[in-house]
Amino acid sequence: MKKSDVIQRYIPTKTPLPKEHVEVFAPSNIALCKYWGKRDKELNLPINASLSISLGQLGSRTSLQPIDAAEDQVLLNDLSVDNSQSFAAKIIAYLDLFRTADSPRIRVETNNNIPTAAGLASSASGFAALIKAIDQLYGYALEPQVMSAFARMGSGSASRSLFDGFVQWHMGVREDGMDSYAELLPAQWPEFRLGLLTLTEAEKAVGSRAGMQRTLETAHLYQSWPLQAAADLEKLRSAIDDRDFHRLGQTAEQNALSMHATMIASWPPLLYWQPESVATMQQIWQLRESGIDLYFTMDAGPNIKLLFTADQQQAVEQAFPEVQVIAPFANA
Ligand code: PMV
Repeated sequence: MKKSDVIQRYIPTKTPLPKEHVEVFAPSNIALCKYWGKRDKELNLPINASLSISLGQLGSRTSLQPIDAAEDQVLLNDLSVDNSQSFAAKIIAYLDLFRTADSPRIRVETNNNIPTAAGLASSASGFAALIKAIDQLYGYALEPQVMSAFARMGSGSASRSLFDGFVQWHMGVREDGMDSYAELLPAQWPEFRLGLLTLTEAEKAVGSRAGMQRTLETAHLYQSWPLQAAADLEKLRSAIDDRDFHRLGQTAEQNALSMHATMIASWPPLLYWQPESVATMQQIWQLRESGIDLYFTMDAGPNIKLLFTADQQQAVEQAFPEVQVIAPFANA
């Protein structure tokens, strides 16, 4: 099924006149149970359900403004991006899903306060902010679940970036994917902390889209992934309900390493780790041995995200002076 066929069922046939200017923010998110593998590439429908934590103030701020011009204009972090570049082309193709050809062209300005494409999930906040902005620009007033499903069509993990706190993305079974959306989990955990270690800001060689496809097609080990992910998701849900940090950290770390194991077992092999990534993992394991409650997770990139609670923050900052600490429930 095509994205446009699904979307057209939820918006008017005639595109409404756009507002003069809209500006929105969407947080980035880090999965504790990862999304890895698609059952439908067109709609980004996942093979497994996933669970994430949003990054509070870190994410994408996007503004949309109709312009009197023949082409859309795309800016990223205050710099103009040529429409032929994939970043701009993806945004324009996405906008086209929500407007007709006679509707005015748009100036799209996105500012990310996280490093783009270094495994810190900027496409997640980017597409979540974009769908929120589109919804406001044309006054569509879409339901949160519909907006989440539409964000998913831009980038799978974007479905989770419409909400703050812990978020679960349901895998869904429908062919049109409209039961594959993310939902906020009500739990608040004020002591919960994430630590971002940007070991390198280099763009990754193989993006998550191509990476998950390669894993699915070439790694026998991938067969065990959906089972592992389903079990981990249940463990994480209960760990969150019980505020059991050990169970949460252990499950998240094992889930991330299991995902990486399937990547490594692909052909050609996919190893996102750099020497610094491995050294950092070993340092975390040593710190844990010495009694510090510290776990980690990693996405399709070399960077490491630390998981801990407020009582360990001082020890974590001492071990990793460059860490950027996030309190995801600070504004709750
Ligand atoms: O949404 P995508 O296509 O950028 O894929 C995200 C994949 C991971 O970051 C590795 C896992 C996840 O659930 O965020």
